[in-house]
Amino acid sequence: MSTPIYTTIDHLKDHDGGLVMLKGWLYNKRSSKGLHFLVLRDGSGLSQCVVNQELVDEASWDGAEEATQESALELTGTVRSDEKQVGGYEVQVSSLKLLHKAEEYPITPKEHGVDFLMNHRHLWLRSQRQWAILRVRNSVIMSIHNFYQERGFLQMDAPILTGTAVEGTSTLFEMEYFGRSAYLTQSGQLHGEAMAMAFGKIYTFGPTFRAEKSKTRRHLTEFWMIEPEMAFYDLDMAMQLAEDMLGRIVGDALKNCQAELEILDRDLEPLKRSISGYPRVSYDKAVEILKGAKTAQMVTDKLAGLDVEELALKGESAQGKDEYGQAKKWQKKKIDTREIEIQRRLAEIEEDRRNLPNWLASAKAFEWGHDFGGSDETLITWHFDRPIIVHRFPHEFKAFYMKRDPEDDRVALGMDVLAPEGYGEIVGGGERATDLAFLQAQVKKHGLPEEAFTWYFDLRRYGSVTHSGFGLGLERTVTWICGLPHLRETIPFARTLDRLYP
Ligand code: 4AD
Ligand code: MG
Repeated sequence: MSTPIYTTIDHLKDHDGGLVMLKGWLYNKRSSKGLHFLVLRDGSGLSQCVVNQELVDEASWDGAEEATQESALELTGTVRSDEKQVGGYEVQVSSLKLLHKAEEYPITPKEHGVDFLMNHRHLWLRSQRQWAILRVRNSVIMSIHNFYQERGFLQMDAPILTGTAVEGTSTLFEMEYFGRSAYLTQSGQLHGEAMAMAFGKIYTFGPTFRAEKSKTRRHLTEFWMIEPEMAFYDLDMAMQLAEDMLGRIVGDALKNCQAELEILDRDLEPLKRSISGYPRVSYDKAVEILKGAKTAQMVTDKLAGLDVEELALKGESAQGKDEYGQAKKWQKKKIDTREIEIQRRLAEIEEDRRNLPNWLASAKAFEWGHDFGGSDETLITWHFDRPIIVHRFPHEFKAFYMKRDPEDDRVALGMDVLAPEGYGEIVGGGERATDLAFLQAQVKKHGLPEEAFTWYFDLRRYGSVTHSGFGLGLERTVTWICGLPHLRETIPFARTLDRLYP
């Protein structure tokens, strides 16, 4: 007998007909007389491994019999292709070792509340949906590095401990630093500007921190930001770069994450449209759209659509209950799984129905000069079938470093990319002020300590040039690509107002 080759589930396709060894954990088990169907999980994928009592020794059979959910296993067996099985291959087990028998696992396929799951995040990570989401995150990270590296950008790291605010003082995490105050960085931008003046085109990729006191579906207190900063780029060039970058991220995800997006049941059409052709929309125009009659009509239509969807879901749920009595065990499991989905969606519908009228009311009351709230962004994106780039915001609510529009002093040369389907802002940035006196005045006006910015002012003393940059929020981007209702699952361990564990 040949020696088995140690491999992982994602490589079973290279061993069709061969003898392999797999190591992993028991994801699921189905048994009938003389047979155990083990679904093995090894981090790279899932695979059904069949243990036939007549084909294995007694120790192997006992191990399979004893194995509980998430028990650690090592097994050898023959690979055979089987389109019907998860992953397209199945393993006929010839021997099995129970490496560790797991205690009763707290996460079962039945419904758990989000709080329960987040409290068990260290274990929840092992489930298939989380596997899919965090693999998409990995793809997005790789796309970003490839995109910038291919374009001659250098990856440079900005400090995490800083002495200054970048994005306003209300969200700073302050700490004691050898007898003085320090802050966790809100953005690497200011240091990014210094590095761009030294290296031309750079990008930072690091954790950033905001003391966000609100609980929303788009805010974390610790999130990852990618911040390119480019010497000699104006606002238009920065907008084009943001579009090209997002097009690359989406294109790569569509190519490399087919299985993941399918597990997440992601509608691919909006992603396919999001490769290029992002409309540029001025703030003025966005306000007009928001307050327009079409927005009101869209909300009315959406509410009507929710009624229809709710009726259909309730019908399906009732039918499941009718059929439950006569259903076979596997059919019951299927009905249970679907029922969880139905209930989850019904709860979302209920929430949307509560929110929509408020969103519309606040859109109607919106006044020029204010920043868009999350719901305003959501409504604006409904008017477009792909990401849009909103530019030239009233300077009052924008950061101190933004350049004014030479054509219209009321507005700053800032831009935000809003992701479609209601997701809203995923990128914020723009062209930077280059004039020393203007910047000094801005720092003062924003109530920031001038002494902390002397180094930053130096950039406007020695070869000050037009330059631009932006920040992409990694978790918000992954949330959109995966089509999730909330960003908390797009980072392995989310940090929010009320969560510091696990
Ligand atoms: O729009 P923001 O605040 O821009 C900046 O920080 C600039 N200094 C970036 C630059 O020009 N270099 O943040 C940029 C992006 C947002 O568009 C959003 O995607 C993400 O960072 N972001 C958050 N993501 C998760 N949780 C939060 N609390 C976030 N705050 C911002
Ligand atoms: Mg912003």
